[in-house]
Amino acid sequence: MHVIVTGGAGFIGSNVAAEFLRDGHDVTVFDSLTRPGVERNLEWLESRASTAKLRFVHGDVRDADLVRSVVGARGVDLVFHFAAQTAVTTSLVAPRDDLEVNLLGTHNVLEAVRLSRELTPPMLFYTSTNKVYGSMAHRQATEGPTRYRFADPDVESHGIDEREPLDFHSPYGCSKGAADQYVHDYARIYGLRTVVFRMSCIYGPRQFGTEDQGWVAHFMLTAAAGRPLTIYGNGKQVRDLLFVEDLVRAFRLAARHIDKTAGNVYNVGGGPANSVSIWHELRPRLERFAAGAIAAQIQGWRPGDQPVYVSDTRKAYRDFGWKPRVGLDEGLRRLWGWVLELTDGRAQLAISRQPNPLELTMPQADIAFAGPSA
Ligand SMILES: NC(=O)c1ccc[n+]([C@@H]2O[C@H](COP(=O)([O-])OP(=O)(O)OC[C@H]3O[C@@H](n4cnc5c(N)ncnc54)[C@H](O)[C@@H]3O)[C@@H](O)[C@H]2O)c1
Repeated sequence: MHVIVTGGAGFIGSNVAAEFLRDGHDVTVFDSLTRPGVERNLEWLESRASTAKLRFVHGDVRDADLVRSVVGARGVDLVFHFAAQTAVTTSLVAPRDDLEVNLLGTHNVLEAVRLSRELTPPMLFYTSTNKVYGSMAHRQATEGPTRYRFADPDVESHGIDEREPLDFHSPYGCSKGAADQYVHDYARIYGLRTVVFRMSCIYGPRQFGTEDQGWVAHFMLTAAAGRPLTIYGNGKQVRDLLFVEDLVRAFRLAARHIDKTAGNVYNVGGGPANSVSIWHELRPRLERFAAGAIAAQIQGWRPGDQPVYVSDTRKAYRDFGWKPRVGLDEGLRRLWGWVLELTDGRAQLAISRQPNPLELTMPQADIAFAGPSA
């Protein structure tokens, strides 16, 4: 099988690429290497694969001709489209770039699939986000000692399903949401085999998290470096976390059951069993790894922050028999292991915190920001 992974040097992309390489498939990684740190993921992939199996295309998804020549080529079976501008914060500062990469870039990939030189165009998987559901202001939440809960007992037990109304917030929410709808519609209109995953927080090794995106890895990298964290809100906001290995398994199962999954949208996340409040419940776990107290400064709420988001993954289970396997504590332990490896066991990190562009340009109160960025 020949697999194309746009954004294949990124966190999710490199984990997906590694899995397909391990099983002997041909993998093309298409990446602009825009995200700081991801060149290390590429080196890691190159160190594990023969040059005959792994091809790297240093390119930008905004380049329609290049995308067409790679994705639309003969012999491509499966396309994972991960390349994206991934931070809500950056999208507020540079909304046009965000739109061009996330929406036009996705449209370039879609068109390349539609106009593929193969008689049967490749399958296409697109990674959307829970942010397409917006702030879900209509969902009441109750505040407990360590976390928020959904007031609706059914939603509290199972999470948010795919029938939740779409309500795009922020340029990132709009560009990802519009692309989500394009990918979904190309299955209806052109009969393409496309699948949309609306994902909450994915975490695991190879995630160069920053304050702007990839917050679980960012917390660990910051704690390992002995720097203080910044927590927005009261720290009781709840998110469901999914370990990246479980996500890779979901992609593979959904591809194997493409007759059922094509044209569908799935909420994919850790679900209620792997939900945690971002500070009150995560902090003791992190402090066990760090073997000491982690300093944090508490800042005001970010407008639009969802007090609680948890994915209902039962549709994925019904359609392709998937549910998460890696529990929160095991996943966190494995991520911590990678952080230590990255830092050579020392508490000093080579990657520095990316300056938050908002701090430079916008007053906090003007920011429409929906929680820890997925
Ligand atoms: N990580 C999460 O928790 C999460 C949650 C929901 C959705 N997603 C989506 O999953 C996808 C992958 O996320 P990730 O966490 O691996 O992010 P990542 O930043 O680690 O990976 C994205 C990759 O895309 C590359 N890239 C950026 N702009 C590009 C361009 N114009 N052309 C080509 N390559 C480009 C980057 O260099 C990077 O390697 C993204 O589409 C993201 O929106 C991620």
